[in-house]
Amino acid sequence: LSTSSRRLNLLSGYADRIHELLDVSRELSGVRDRLMSRNSSAKNYISEANYIEFSGVKVVTPSGNVLVDDLTLRVESGSNLLITGPNGSGKSSLFRVLGGLWPLVSGHIVKPGVGSNLNKEIFYVPQRPYTAVGTLRDQLIYPLTADQETEPLSYGGMVDLLKNVDLDYLLERYPLDKEVNWGDELSLGEQQRLGMARLFYHKPKFAILDECTSAVTTDMEERFCNRVRAMGTSCITISHRPALVAFHDVVLSLDGEGGWKVQDNRNGSFLPTESEFDALKSSETDRKSDALAVQRAFSANTKVVMIS
Ligand SMILES: Nc1ncnc2c1ncn2[C@@H]1O[C@H](COP(=O)(O)OP(=O)(O)OP(=O)(O)O)[C@@H](O)[C@H]1O
Ligand SMILES: [Mg+2]
Repeated sequence: LSTSSRRLNLLSGYADRIHELLDVSRELSGVRDRLMSRNSSAKNYISEANYIEFSGVKVVTPSGNVLVDDLTLRVESGSNLLITGPNGSGKSSLFRVLGGLWPLVSGHIVKPGVGSNLNKEIFYVPQRPYTAVGTLRDQLIYPLTADQETEPLSYGGMVDLLKNVDLDYLLERYPLDKEVNWGDELSLGEQQRLGMARLFYHKPKFAILDECTSAVTTDMEERFCNRVRAMGTSCITISHRPALVAFHDVVLSLDGEGGWKVQDNRNGSFLPTESEFDALKSSETDRKSDALAVQRAFSANTKVVMIS
């Protein structure tokens, strides 16, 4: 009898704990439902597709300044977008939000590669590429490391990548296994060309080129743009160089106070005359007037939100 009573007590203890567990899990699912409905009404969420789209996106600095307000813009795979605007207007910050470095406070972002290998989908090339201490090969495959490569880059592949950007002389200067602090040894123009070679290695669907050709010759920049196009990569280029207008379908201009404007070049109305183009080129020193020059280069027609 006493054994049965001990067992009954034990069983009733288990039953109490199961009851408590069910209560807690019911409470938790209520909290989750409330959070989900709050999120979907705030619409600040990121989802996946094979294009990039900003819908009602607000870009806010960590100190609370609104740089871009209610941005709505879609970039289809295969099209090219040029972004311009004065210094500090939020051009780079837009991609801090796209890349998840800054939180999305309001709006909806659609992009490829959510939760997977983002570099295959969207590759960001900054003005000064990150140069880790390591071999030349390490620089070319960055941010991958040798043990993460699915198809290891061969010596022949390295030669091709470096030839594309006229850096093949580095192969003679540095033995293959030599570890170098590349940021100290290479000029800014050389570092930028290394950044471009990296892009040719990764072959992403979208490339975000954040003034990544500012220190290379215009010849090299033109070759680079042509090669990226030939690779089938869509460019989202941040630049003040009017000459780059010719390589893009659409321009987004930011004013740094929340305002933005989209102009379309696909109806063929753009193509400045030679004298207009010279005037654009001669203003390359003043970045703010360049931004205006780039905008002028596009005929100011209807605002579009779809780039296809
Ligand atoms: N971590 C931060 N905290 C607060 N403000 C920031 C932070 N990072 C950037 N900002 C500010 O946000 C604004 C936008 O910066 P952003 O780098 O996006 O400008 P940009 O348009 O890319 O300029 P540039 O043409 O000089 O590259 C600037 O005023 C900058 O000082
Ligand atoms: Mg910037």
